[in-house]
Amino acid sequence: MGLADSVRERLPIEAVSADLNVKDRVDVAQGIRSFVRRESRMTHGQQRAFAELWSQFGIDAGAAPLDPEQIFGRRQSLVLEIGFGDGESLAAMAAADPETAYLGIEIHRPGIGHLLLQAAQLELGNLRILCADAMESVPRLLPDECLDRIQIFFPDPWPKLRHHKRRLIQPPFIALLARKTKPDGQLLIATDCEDYAHSILGSLNAAPEWLNTAAGNGFALRPSRRLPTKFEQRGQRLGHVVREMAFVRRVA
Ligand SMILES: C[S@@+](CC[C@H](N)C(=O)[O-])C[C@H]1O[C@@H](n2cnc3c(N)ncnc32)[C@H](O)[C@@H]1O
Repeated sequence: MGLADSVRERLPIEAVSADLNVKDRVDVAQGIRSFVRRESRMTHGQQRAFAELWSQFGIDAGAAPLDPEQIFGRRQSLVLEIGFGDGESLAAMAAADPETAYLGIEIHRPGIGHLLLQAAQLELGNLRILCADAMESVPRLLPDECLDRIQIFFPDPWPKLRHHKRRLIQPPFIALLARKTKPDGQLLIATDCEDYAHSILGSLNAAPEWLNTAAGNGFALRPSRRLPTKFEQRGQRLGHVVREMAFVRRVA
């Protein structure tokens, strides 16, 4: 699908409009998205994974908000990862932390197929996957104050100035994430795009709902539990510097 086609696609504006100011509502109405649908095909294994494993690990969301307790069977900490890519680091994290529930949202179906295969191989009872646009599904499907941690590792950088409006992490989305996070819940972000890192840090430091846990309101140390992602490894080969951010939701 070309860019013009993807721009022509429309988001259901009513789903997010409550969280957006007038300019952002216009952007959403114009179909501005944080991703382009890539052409890459699913492998046979990934197609089979969708056919055989989606019912076990996937969530077919309807119009109603999700009930995390019902989905994961029992009350436990809930972590949301947005844009998990091929999901290998998410699968490994979920395997190492079985008492925590992990919900992954991704739009790229081959990546989801890859994670389905990993989830089956590692027998992950604590992982569920939503195939959806996080900008549309998070406000619509997640109850307020349900998340203990949100992690967004290497969001699409959209380096060209004219594409910056496509960047996922901007003030309206930051405010929305705060609404979905429990008081004292965490927001972890990593990026190797230097100007995006500074833009995210500035927006988060300015957001009244979030408190920077790093010294001097700066970038954070790499969290010990964060495993290298595929996109990160590609950047490392190109000599990119990784910036980490670690915030907590202020208690009102
Ligand atoms: C640069 S990749 C990084 C993937 C992975 N986190 C990594 O580090 O390897 C960004 C990912 O975010 C996904 N993405 C972008 N916008 C999204 C959205 N609005 N909802 C869900 N996924 C999104 C893309 O499909 C892509 O897989």
